[in-house]
Amino acid sequence: MKILQIDSSVLGGHSASRSLTAKVVADQRAKHPEATLTVRDLDLDAPAHLSGALLPVLGGPKDLNAVQEAELQRTEAFLKEFLEADVLVVGVPQYNFGIPSQLKSWIDRIAQAGRTFKYTETGPVGLAGGKRVIVVSSRGGVRQDANALDLHEQTVDVVFRFLGITDITYVRAHGLAMGPEAREASLVAANGAVAALAA
Ligand SMILES: Cc1cc2nc3c(=O)[nH]c(=O)nc-3n(C[C@H](O)[C@H](O)[C@H](O)COP(=O)(O)O)c2cc1C
Repeated sequence: MKILQIDSSVLGGHSASRSLTAKVVADQRAKHPEATLTVRDLDLDAPAHLSGALLPVLGGPKDLNAVQEAELQRTEAFLKEFLEADVLVVGVPQYNFGIPSQLKSWIDRIAQAGRTFKYTETGPVGLAGGKRVIVVSSRGGVRQDANALDLHEQTVDVVFRFLGITDITYVRAHGLAMGPEAREASLVAANGAVAALAA
């Protein structure tokens, strides 16, 4: 079994999502001692934003310069890790309503036609199914509509489903900036949700 942990919070040791992804992964490893773990810290080592200069990295003309070649290698590593993972544990904080731009850059590398999805006459088909995704969703506020996903959750939900993944679990730590008591209660609940996942 292969576990891929992806963290994208910029808050380092103060990050709620990082502490929770670490706990989810520790639980998974306790349950599956044979599992291998790959950790991608997208804050420490952020993929460059997609740009015209980097388009060839996504399968365009293959006359690459040194920078493009390095980014191609990195993109291929992201793809390999993602495709091989049985369990993906991903920290998804809400920053300015959406996902951190580092995480968007990672998505821009792995969402590739012919690699992780394909177009067919009847519509797009995901090629990365069969894995479990555990999303740790953190935010300072709380969503107004209890029945709707927040935009950061919607984004990763749409992307992972598009890539063929249907087994998606959400662990939420929301209301983290709504005062110390609300933060504490949110973290206690989120840790409880993590513990329940492992049970
Ligand atoms: C740059 C930035 C933008 C943020 N934007 C939002 C936001 O739009 N909505 C929200 O509820 N919280 C927002 N927050 C609060 C974070 O979601 C909160 O700090 C949460 O703990 C982030 O998860 P993390 O601790 O894992 O980084 C923002 C925080 C930062 C640093």
